[in-house]
This record gives sequence, C-alpha cells and structure tokens, in this order.
Amino acid sequence: MSPRQVILEARALERRFVTARPLFREATVVHAVSGVDLAVEEGETFAIVGESGCGKSTLARVLTRLIPASGGSVRYAGRDLGGLKPAQIRALRREVQFIFQDPFSSLNPRMTVGALIEEPLRIHRIGTGPERRARVAQLLERVGLPAQAAGRYPHEFSGGQRQRIGIARALASGPKVVVGDEPVSALDVSIQAQVVNLLADLKREFGLTLVIIAHDLAVIRHMADRVAVMYLGQIVELAPAADLFEVPRHPYTEALVSAIPLPDPGARRARARVAGELPDPTAPPAGCRFHPRCPYAIGRCRTDAPQLSPRDAGGRQVACHRAEELALAGLGSVAAARSPAARKRFDLYRQARAAQAQTDQPPAEGGPIQQGD
Ligand SMILES: Nc1ncnc2c1ncn2[C@@H]1O[C@H](COP(=O)(O)OP(=O)(O)OP(=O)(O)O)[C@@H](O)[C@H]1O
Ligand code: SF4
Ligand SMILES: [Mg+2]
Repeated sequence: MSPRQVILEARALERRFVTARPLFREATVVHAVSGVDLAVEEGETFAIVGESGCGKSTLARVLTRLIPASGGSVRYAGRDLGGLKPAQIRALRREVQFIFQDPFSSLNPRMTVGALIEEPLRIHRIGTGPERRARVAQLLERVGLPAQAAGRYPHEFSGGQRQRIGIARALASGPKVVVGDEPVSALDVSIQAQVVNLLADLKREFGLTLVIIAHDLAVIRHMADRVAVMYLGQIVELAPAADLFEVPRHPYTEALVSAIPLPDPGARRARARVAGELPDPTAPPAGCRFHPRCPYAIGRCRTDAPQLSPRDAGGRQVACHRAEELALAGLGSVAAARSPAARKRFDLYRQARAAQAQTDQPPAEGGPIQQGD
C-alpha cells in the first residue's frame, strides 16, 4: 500500500498572544502553540485532544489560517500559507473549512438557513442562482434535514439540527479538508453519536480529510485514525488511535485515558480531568512542561525538555524521557476497572453506528423541525 499524501503540515509552529497589562507593568505573552510539528494525511481523521486551555483551538485556527502563526510554517497541499494575501486566504476557504463548536452562536440569526448554506457558494461564485438553491436542498437532505428548512431561521431548530446546518454550510463549497473544533461537545450525548456518525459518513462520501478537536475521548476513539495529544501548547504524543488508547506511552496520555469520565450516557459535556492545574501558559515550567504533575518525573525532567520523537514502526511519536521504560495503563484496563458504565459509554457510539447502517432512514433527530432547545 502506497503511503498517503500529506495535505496539511505544520513545522515548528508557534502562536503567541500578547496581552496588554495595566500601566507600568509588562505585557504578558501566552505561548498558546509552541514548536508544533505534525502532518495530516489526505483522507484521514486526525484528532487533537487535551485539557481546556492547552491550545487546541489556537492550533486549529492557525492550521486553517483563520489567524496567522507567530513562527514556523503551515503548508496546505504543499503551499506555504504564511505569506497569503487576503484574496488568497478567501480562496483557501473553498478547500479548507471550519465547523465551530457552538451551533447557537456560529450561525447568523438574521439569515435563513438557505442563505447561510448558500453564502459560501456565492462568495466563491459557484453555480447560477437556481443551481445554488438546488445544491442547498441537496445538502440539507444529505445532513438529514427537509428541503423546506431553507426558508426558516436558525432559532427554529434544535442544537443538533443547527450543527447539521453548520456541517451543510461547511460542505457547500466542496472542501477537501474540514476542521471541526469540538463539533459535538455542545450537544446531548445521544445526539452527539448521530452527528459523529453523520460526519464519518460524509467524510467517506465526499472524500474529506477531517481534523477533529474533542475533549470527549470516546468520540475520538470512535472517529479518529490518528490522535495528537496536546499539553500546554505542545504535542506530547501522536499515534494511531487504537494504539494510543490501548497502550499510552506518555504519562499525560495515561492520565487523560484514566480520567475518561464515565457517568451515565445522558450526561452533558463530560470532560477529561487530570490531577492538578494546567500551569500558567505565560510561564511554562522548565524541562518537561508536564513535570510538576507527572507521577513518574525524575531529576532530568525538571531541566531537559523531551523532544517528540518516533518510538515504533507504527508511527508513534512521544515526548518523554522515560517513554521506553514506563508500562502505562491503557483503556482496556481502565474500562475493565470501571465497567459496566465504561463499556456502556464506549458502546453508545458503536451501537448508533450499527443501527444507522441497517437503515437508510435519516436519524430521528434530523426529522421534523423542532423548536430550539
Ligand atoms: N485571543 C487570545 N488572546 C489571548 N490569549 C488567548 C487568546 N486565544 C487563546 N488564548 C490563550 O491561549 C491558550 C490556549 O487557548 P485555546 O483556546 O487554544 O485552548 P483550547 O485547548 O482550545 O481550550 P478549550 O478546550 O477550553 O477550548 C489559553 O491560555 C488561552 O487563554
Ligand atoms: S519527561 Fe519526565 S516529567 Fe515529562 S512526562 Fe516523561 S517522565 Fe513525566
Ligand atoms: Mg478550544
């Protein structure tokens, strides 16, 4: 099998935010993304996970040129995005699209659903008026909404339906890469599974490359081919999803997996937690940034920063001085220790997928139009 082409690539990527300080005090610099190297391959689902504030959204925004980098480079299809002019950035949007986390604030409430989905087609001058409207109807149907939804406004829809509208809008221009910043985390868990499955189906159908950010590792486990784990602006482990969850090789990944929240499946916005606070990103710890929270830290960890380097033939990369010697606990042991709730949580996505495969009917949540949540 020939290796897949790299479609989106970051090298030594940096993004800093300088925040103004009161009189006579220095401005502080937040190192939101620090020295990130990654290569997303065409056709894969690449996930980025990590605690709140670790830099996931910033990385996604820099990768898609929604905001510029402070250092390093991003290449899309071999082209450096650094020096793009505004018109070239607009042209890039046709091929690289973004799905936002909040389906309530990301859709302009004054535009009809039809106008919202048609907007990218207008911006990129795709098709005639009737062709665009036909495309809108087709996209609505494809995401599980009736064609007459085009004449209504976002507030007339539930959260899950609004996210379907956001997905239809993202797909309108025929992108090659879609980046979803927590595309399901604002939705109820039962609806999350439907939207996750819709994204997976659309990815196959449209030959998309997906970059997905999520807090919920169950979503990632279900969807992703490869996963990058971020900690305080850096990638600390990058591996095929199954390997990463079964046998983590970085202590922070182990902590995330062991902290997978396993409440009842109806719980909203379950989030991974790790003991201790994420350190101040304006003054990251010396050496390994994880050392103040790492139960395996040794003297060297306080002074030497470990580099992200290849650890096996399967493409795993880990940034830990002790990656070769530690035997860390993976999902198998965690799920066994926490069953039956653990299995229920992870089976939810598998069941939804199997049920959907058996029927050509659109998911129930995408049926009749409901009033907003
Ligand atoms: N516009 C900004 N100005 C200043 N600091 C910012 C800005 N955007 C992000 N940051 C800071 O950069 C760091 C990374 O933020 P980011 O939103 O990328 O994290 P995240 O991993 O997406 O978090 P969450 O999971 O909560 O969405 C945080 O410390 C955040 O406060
Ligand atoms: S380098 Fe040291 S502190 Fe960092 S994760 Fe590895 S063992 Fe822990
Ligand atoms: Mg974010």
